[in-house]
Amino acid sequence: MSGFFLTIEGCEGAGKSTAVNLIKEWMSEKGIEFTETREPGGTRVAEDIRSLLLSHHGEELSDTTELLLMFAARSQNLFHNIEPDLSADKVVICDRFTDATYAYQGGGRGLEQEQIATLENLVQGSCRPDMTLLMDVDPEVGMARARGRGELDRIEQEKMDFFERVREEYLNRSKTYPQQYEVINAGGSLEQVKQQILLVLERRLGERS
Ligand code: TMP
Repeated sequence: MSGFFLTIEGCEGAGKSTAVNLIKEWMSEKGIEFTETREPGGTRVAEDIRSLLLSHHGEELSDTTELLLMFAARSQNLFHNIEPDLSADKVVICDRFTDATYAYQGGGRGLEQEQIATLENLVQGSCRPDMTLLMDVDPEVGMARARGRGELDRIEQEKMDFFERVREEYLNRSKTYPQQYEVINAGGSLEQVKQQILLVLERRLGERS
């Protein structure tokens, strides 16, 4: 049995945390060994980079700075958590990864996909997610949920057309990489969303239990 790299993606308020909790519960029940991390973040230094990226510090970040900080944090997380855990044959559950960079810095900010791909190769080598669960929801619905959680961070304060482009890029990628992506309609009831995720888990990871 080898490691399995599972990433969870989606726009703000799409229900990623609900999905991560459900996945952890399911894996615990099945006796599957897993670890959990998030991006940007996952190590002390990467969490500091996360604060730089998400807080309001009165200095505008250039799009390139934002891109490089995302990959700097990722490099730390890969080195300290993801690569060792995959080598130890665990399932690694990661709340966002490089697909978020393609969606937010590529789709949202309009940076070149080729530049992102260059950094992806540099930072990750051949490491790619085995499966990406995309929680797909209308950004209007997602942002209403995000606003209900409290003050918006630097990225959450973007305008709605930014999140429309983010969603579009995620959906484009799900079509380009159908083997990797499992798209969940996250606009339905909690029960409907859970049922969709459980079906995917059984199909993709059932044999590990
Ligand atoms: P979240 O963990 O609460 O979803 O917040 C992380 C934010 O960072 C979210 O707005 C998406 C953004 N992000 C990027 O823009 N690019 C990335 O590569 C990653 C991992 C996250």
